[in-house]
Amino acid sequence: MRKVAKVAVVAGSLVVGCLTAGSVVARDAGASDEQALAPTRHGPSRSIEQRVDRLLARMTTQEKLQQVQLLSDGQITDADAKAGVGGVFSLTDPAKIDHYQRIAMTQSRLHIPILFAYDTIHGYRTIFPVPLGAASSFDPDVARTDAQIGARESATVGIKQIYSPMVDVSHDPRWGRIVEGNGEDPYLGSVMAAARVKGAQGNDYSRPDRAVTSVKHFVGYGEPEGGRDYGTTDMSEQRLRNLYLPPFKAAIEAGADTVMCSFNAINGVPGCANRYTETEILKKEWGFDGFIESDYTAVAETRVCPPKTPDEGSCGHGTAADGPEAGANALMAGTDSEMVSTYLRDYGKQLLADGRISRKRLDDAVRRILRVKFRAGLFENPYVDQAKATDPASFLTPADRRAARTAAARSMVLLQNKGRTLPLDPAKKTAVIGPLADNQHDLLGAWWGRGEDADAVSVLKGITDGSSATTTYAQGCALSNEEPPDYDPADDCPSDAGFAKAVAAANDADQVVLALGETREMSGEAASRSRIDLPGRQQELIDAIAATGKPFVVVLFNGRPLTLSEVVGSAPAVLEAWFPGVEGGNAVADVVFGKVNPGGKLPVSFPQRLGQVPIYYNHEPTGRPCDVTQKYTSRYRDLRSCDPLFPFGFGLSYTSFTVSDLTLSKTTVSRRGSVVASVKVTNTGSVAGDDVAQVYLRDPVASISQPVRRLRGFERVTLRPGQSTTVRFTLDASDFGFYDNRGRFVVEPGTIQVYAGDDSTATLSRTFRVTR
Ligand code: BGC
Repeated sequence: MRKVAKVAVVAGSLVVGCLTAGSVVARDAGASDEQALAPTRHGPSRSIEQRVDRLLARMTTQEKLQQVQLLSDGQITDADAKAGVGGVFSLTDPAKIDHYQRIAMTQSRLHIPILFAYDTIHGYRTIFPVPLGAASSFDPDVARTDAQIGARESATVGIKQIYSPMVDVSHDPRWGRIVEGNGEDPYLGSVMAAARVKGAQGNDYSRPDRAVTSVKHFVGYGEPEGGRDYGTTDMSEQRLRNLYLPPFKAAIEAGADTVMCSFNAINGVPGCANRYTETEILKKEWGFDGFIESDYTAVAETRVCPPKTPDEGSCGHGTAADGPEAGANALMAGTDSEMVSTYLRDYGKQLLADGRISRKRLDDAVRRILRVKFRAGLFENPYVDQAKATDPASFLTPADRRAARTAAARSMVLLQNKGRTLPLDPAKKTAVIGPLADNQHDLLGAWWGRGEDADAVSVLKGITDGSSATTTYAQGCALSNEEPPDYDPADDCPSDAGFAKAVAAANDADQVVLALGETREMSGEAASRSRIDLPGRQQELIDAIAATGKPFVVVLFNGRPLTLSEVVGSAPAVLEAWFPGVEGGNAVADVVFGKVNPGGKLPVSFPQRLGQVPIYYNHEPTGRPCDVTQKYTSRYRDLRSCDPLFPFGFGLSYTSFTVSDLTLSKTTVSRRGSVVASVKVTNTGSVAGDDVAQVYLRDPVASISQPVRRLRGFERVTLRPGQSTTVRFTLDASDFGFYDNRGRFVVEPGTIQVYAGDDSTATLSRTFRVTR
């Protein structure tokens, strides 16, 4: 399944061709997973290339400059469609989409269809759990199903491109957009990225229920300094390649045909004017033949702000003197399509005449855009089936809802369950309490597409429907849904005035479900936080409920890791539900009442305190590793621990598991060979449940310091009480090699340590040797 394209030996190390290193391969995951994750990138089709060439040959310069223009729903006019504009995003009214498409197809000179795009991030109308939640499932099927339904619903209204998956690895929970990605790990991120691409595109995105994916944000957008969105990033070559690029590569190999370049600058160069990442790596090294669109005004943002008017338009990075230069830099760096700003369209002719952009590069950009349009089948089927697009039965079908419910339950992570508080008894009286209890709006999370609050099943509704006894409700306090600049954190759960009612409801019930966390506005774009604890007085609400002595669970809704030390100190049970989507309340009831045994695992470390950030499991070692009994070690003076509160890969279950019998198929492997690690997982408890077998590698002696461990395989398994299964992971050069600081993938001879378990602190270990 995995092909090694190019292999060369450099200075005693094996250097593996870039299209293979870091590939995503299913781990004995069964036929369906193997098919779903196997690379599917098709080579160029001769007939499409001929059609592109013929069309390109007929285009005028101005028509080419129109093709590289991407306009928003608020910008597009009939005149743009008639002039042959390339793309439009955020338009979702099928009648309008059809309207502009008809103009493009009948009134523009060359009848080139418009590519319509939308941010279908975790659902179009059927809203699934936020991607960070889906990543917690450690189940690519969850991501795949989400993308498949999202693409189908989008394509139904005429949207043939979705701005997903977002695959930015991040170590910073302050950053609000951590919610949109897969957390801190490049391997998990790669598996989920490939699953989303396959889910949305299938093998052929021209099909009426498919859409082409745009993988974003290229690249390094997940590590803005201080966690402040859009902020700058500075990183080594090896980090870029080992941590941040792999999920993009996995998405491209899975067939993603479009990429969105990022707002931020990396090493001083803005993402959308970055020749090294866009052209050298993505297009040349990886052979990407689709197109790159800029992020929203990201081209304009590369120019310096005009004096005295810093707020005029979009500006700031200061790598271009003015708009035309910004357009020229972006195009020549490799950006093929300009979103919102219109410098190429407006100044392209002059830029060509001045020699600041080349005809060759413009033609290449247009060629790429046309290629994707042909592959999307837009020339054959440009129009929207209005009957279908306006039929409510096309969206949020009962089957889609069932899939969303399954996905949400599989995404939940049980963080604590003292004294077996969970599952609660559905035959007992339950009080549902908290600002997120009788709440539909927040459950959808950031980027809710065309999801409607009214579609969402609240926790109160889910628990009421899932219980055979009486369910009562008290809000306790409210959170603010205002957006900056009107948002005031002092308005979040500001007073204890409602606590007495909540306590009375708890006292009057047998058990309590306390629904707490963040609003959906608190994460997502432009939603970084300077603290990551429970907003407002929610902790006091927990303490008030704890004082009643009633069994209770805190169900958390949030888009980032939170600091939960106090929460786990006072709540017997804590369930991380993320923002679970349209079926959230039902899924919470399924888990809380034990219909579903939670099996999700954290895709990101949860710090004890914000000051530990960035804290992630796959960090490099130091000469003075943290030791709280020693002063001169890598530690915090005011923290008597070296660890996060919850490590990457962690999650409990209503049953117990052991992971044992780690064996390797061989103890010596050549650099071109592979070794199979097998591990036995046993359900040692009394109910059926899911565990996630995880395998980590460490290269303890290497030419550059290697992470203390790196996830290289996982498999979620379902086991009956007493049942065991053996999970096998095939490990080869793409697993035990790494990128060096010259951007080469090297496989060095020496010992590799293998760790297996069901979280990133796994201690079961074996070693093998990689020979020359
Ligand atoms: C976001 C992108 C998004 C684009 C279009 C930008 O602000 O960064 O993720 O795809 O808007 O909506």
